[in-house]
Amino acid sequence: MSKFPENFIWGVACASYQCEGAWNEDGKGPNIWDDFCHEQGRQHVKNRDTGDTACDVYHRYREDVALMKRHNIKAYRFSVSWARVIPDGDGEVNEKGLQFYEALVDELLASGIEPMITLYHWDLPSALQDKGGWLNRDIVAAFGRYASIVARRLKGKVRKYMTLNEPQCAAFLGYGNGEHAPGWKLSEEKVAQVFHIMCLAHSEAYRAIKAVDPETMVGAAPCGRQCYPETDTPENREAAYRETFNLSSVQGWAFTTNIFLDSLLLKKYDESAPAAVRRFARTIDPADWEKMETLDFIGINVYNGDMVDSKGGYVPRYPGFPLTATKWKVSPEVMHYCVVNNYRRYGKPIVITENGQSCNDRVFLDGKVHDPERIDFLHRYLLELKKGIDEGVPVLGYLQWSFLDNFEWAQGYDERFGIVYVDYRTGERIPKDSAAWYAKVIETNGGCL
Ligand code: BGC
Repeated sequence: MSKFPENFIWGVACASYQCEGAWNEDGKGPNIWDDFCHEQGRQHVKNRDTGDTACDVYHRYREDVALMKRHNIKAYRFSVSWARVIPDGDGEVNEKGLQFYEALVDELLASGIEPMITLYHWDLPSALQDKGGWLNRDIVAAFGRYASIVARRLKGKVRKYMTLNEPQCAAFLGYGNGEHAPGWKLSEEKVAQVFHIMCLAHSEAYRAIKAVDPETMVGAAPCGRQCYPETDTPENREAAYRETFNLSSVQGWAFTTNIFLDSLLLKKYDESAPAAVRRFARTIDPADWEKMETLDFIGINVYNGDMVDSKGGYVPRYPGFPLTATKWKVSPEVMHYCVVNNYRRYGKPIVITENGQSCNDRVFLDGKVHDPERIDFLHRYLLELKKGIDEGVPVLGYLQWSFLDNFEWAQGYDERFGIVYVDYRTGERIPKDSAAWYAKVIETNGGCL
């Protein structure tokens, strides 16, 4: 097939708590995932797994960057652990924490790999949670200060930031149904409040980073329900668009990209907002809308989608529908329509900040890890992404989730998303077949697909 655009960013992604380990080393403060995993008497995570050691990237990052380089990776999206840099979230800076990220960034740059930083991928410093976490507006200033500290240290080296990763999960799973840290189960109105404060925090960080370096691009990486049409007719496309941004859908308002992006870019809630969101909206100080900042690019984390008919109704899966190991639907078409729909609504460049699949990977008799399912999955999704690009959507890059297998939140180490296998007993890395395949895709700029 024809190549992807020139300078297309081919990368991989990961997050601090999921891969770093070193949970209490070199002055790092505790965060809510440390607490969640260590809580006595209650089990939140499968097998009581923790991120204490994870992939030990904190100590092995040089080896990992070398492996990335060997696989032609052009960009690495990673998150900074807030509590490693500012142990209590808002006080003293931990120099060793900053040193770690600077060394990682230097190693990447020396290897020709662009560092792309996420400032918040769910591991809030515990001290801030004790003060109410994302329900306490004081966090807005704290987040802005943290963003400024990181941006100042890495000025001239890091040119793309994402403020928040999947506010949808952080807000709903963290504060709504309690599946993720901090494990709170609050009302829908409170969850709406969390979203609102996160939007203010994004805006504060946006201003802080721009004040350090106006050339830096600042985005975020939301997720949400993405719909695609049953067949590609104008009527069905319209229905898929509407349903993607419909806050009153059966799957809930919290899992839409627009519950976050509308506040920032349209400065309002969609009129389909349910009663709880409308009740909360009435309590918002009008001055808050003035404080909302834009995004220079929209990151979208996308794994699967919902097929809808011409009325926007869900088309049920046929028996035996292809599923990943996590039982997520293999629905590549979503890639095409999610970029088209989000570009149509917001008119901003897009980066696919996450996409990948979990497989039941293991080391085969020949000592290698063969993962044809993952290769097929990525191949199909990339072909569909190209359709969106060919329709004129400015897609800047694609970041596969994930380079290494890692700690998959409440699922612990049971799910393997990596293109590099990790033996957690020894820390050994074994590139899977998909790593060699992805290296070829990058080398040919998608031409081999
Ligand atoms: C998150 C990642 C996670 C991945 C696979 C996204 O929800 O940003 O942290 O590992 O999906 O579940």
